[in-house]
Amino acid sequence: MHNLSVKINACEKSYPIRIFDDEISGLKSKILEITGKNRFLVVISEKVYKIYKKQLNFEKERIFVLKDGEREKNFKTFEKILNCALKLKLTRNDYIIAVGGGVCGDLAGFAASSYMRGIHLIQIPTTLLACVDSSVGGKTGIDTKFGKNLVGAFYQPDAVLINTNFLKTLDDIQFKTGLGEVVKYAFIEKSCKSDEEFNLINFLSLNSEKILARESEMLEEIIRICISLKISVVEKDEKESGLRRILNFGHTYGHAVEKLTNYHKYTHGEAVVKGIEFIFDYAFKKGLIVESYKFIAQDLIKKYNFKKIPDFCTKKVLSAMKMDKKATAEGIVVIVPSDYAKVEAEVMDEKFFE
Ligand code: NAD
Ligand code: GLY
Repeated sequence: MHNLSVKINACEKSYPIRIFDDEISGLKSKILEITGKNRFLVVISEKVYKIYKKQLNFEKERIFVLKDGEREKNFKTFEKILNCALKLKLTRNDYIIAVGGGVCGDLAGFAASSYMRGIHLIQIPTTLLACVDSSVGGKTGIDTKFGKNLVGAFYQPDAVLINTNFLKTLDDIQFKTGLGEVVKYAFIEKSCKSDEEFNLINFLSLNSEKILARESEMLEEIIRICISLKISVVEKDEKESGLRRILNFGHTYGHAVEKLTNYHKYTHGEAVVKGIEFIFDYAFKKGLIVESYKFIAQDLIKKYNFKKIPDFCTKKVLSAMKMDKKATAEGIVVIVPSDYAKVEAEVMDEKFFE
């Protein structure tokens, strides 16, 4: 069991993050400890509802079951959630509770940010990606026909409850996509400016078998480390005006891969790992890192046996990268490795591709 907390100075808000592996049937009482006598609407991923309906034991009328898939992260579903909260006559003192993966957390979080101009929110992540990343830090939003996550809000939850037992029923593809984000944290660790030193590269390298076997202690530890690193970044830069950009390590190329394959062929984490491989190669060829570090990165990625993604046509990738939210007038800003577990932001040298 680990208790962490985030303090966001700008909105004078701090909230707890609890990581534990108790029986899932005990989750409801943990929720009630937070909500007290206030009411709540639970927005829950369809698969999670099917598997854990009995243990969670929520009243049917308080549940919005969210169909599976990124496609549900849209205006229509957002409206449906708000209508459901209105039908229940929730007030500003009440809660929206997101139980599911990143899609559920982003969507329910955005609904919470706009319902009555902001209602309480509890994030209960059930995928590894949501546990190590999306449930903390307050990014919420939906996709539009113009692109992913283009409408949303920074909206911090009141609490994040992480029960690692949920991760036992994730399929291998979803577990690996979360590991893609975990590996990302390893390569940015020193730039996160955390007071605690984790040496996540080493930890992941030494414990790959136990992690892939989803041993509870290991899951708790990688979540604790990634979330601690994320807290350190978000506390310093909630709205991504500087430091928080490092969390996009591997993502610029990764987003291009997702876009070029219509968000179907590869998961987010798989695409991020491809992005990490690409940027390590770029950094080495540009003389930003030594070859031995590139080998360390390649070895670590190999240990987790991520899905192999072939190289894409450079022109197409470049043009997709230019559409990224993080592209600026000066060019494509990428987060590059600069030393062991360190990264920095720089404008990409497009001539490199010629
Ligand atoms: P997801 O939410 O689509 O979940 C993947 C699948 O796993 C779904 O089918 C879901 O029903 C199922 N599932 C969830 N928990 C399960 C469990 N315990 N057992 C069995 N099945 C389970 O995917 P994801 O990878 O969690 O999230 C991806 C989303 O997160 C994207 O929309 C991305 O944009 C967003 N994201 C947000 C942030 C942020 O900071 N807000 C960060 C990274 C990613
Ligand atoms: N996952 C990127 C961020 O939270 O900023």
